Amino acid sequence: MKVIAANWKLYKSPQQARDFFKSFREKVKPVSGQEIVFFPSAFALEAVSESLRGSGLKFGAQNAYSKSEGAFTGENSAAIAQEMGASYILLGHSERRALFGESNEQIAAKVALVQSLALTPMLCIGESLQEREAGKTNTVLKEQLRLGLAKAEAQKPLVVAYEPVWAIGTGKVATPEQVAETHTAVAGLLEKFGFKNVAILYGGSVKPDNAAGLIQQKHVGGFLVGGASLEPDSFAKIIEAAG
Ligand code: PGA
Repeated sequence: MKVIAANWKLYKSPQQARDFFKSFREKVKPVSGQEIVFFPSAFALEAVSESLRGSGLKFGAQNAYSKSEGAFTGENSAAIAQEMGASYILLGHSERRALFGESNEQIAAKVALVQSLALTPMLCIGESLQEREAGKTNTVLKEQLRLGLAKAEAQKPLVVAYEPVWAIGTGKVATPEQVAETHTAVAGLLEKFGFKNVAILYGGSVKPDNAAGLIQQKHVGGFLVGGASLEPDSFAKIIEAAG
């Protein structure tokens, strides 16, 4: 099963999301062996939920708090997203870590809650350029997995997205060799920590023209796409290349 996910970040109003799907649903019909997932901003979840009804396309929230409800002003609830029809929650994206100070421990609590609700957490991991150049890539990924999955249950659904921070939104995609090498390392770590059959997505400047080369690499179970998922045409081409 290949998972192709769209991270819309803080783009697209509810109306823009509806317009996207008018065009996208004409172009793309989900095929077996492929799961297509959209992560809109929280305020557009309802519009996305309505637009996707009966389509077989999936969606989820870009983040959710580690509790389902309570006195947590300004936070978002995975349980509410689930009621709206979500099946995934994106967690630990590098922008959450770098801009909003999310720690591996906070992410671990979120992963546990999301799994307990029978939603699928999509846990993002990735090294910075400085870390890669210092030869620390595997150490960083190991820590992110060890701590981020500390409260996760191995039998429950989980997806991991490997996104080198230096490749996100920069146009600098990791080479197929770097992707193959790092995904093999991540697969080994997941196995070591007792997690089997986890799809490992690649993310970071995935575009229609590099998707086919990347999807062929060992242990690449799909993509997490930012910029190129905002246009129906380019996202449809990436899905086609990943098929
Ligand atoms: P990008 O973003 O495809 O624009 O590099 C990927 C992501 O942040 O998930």
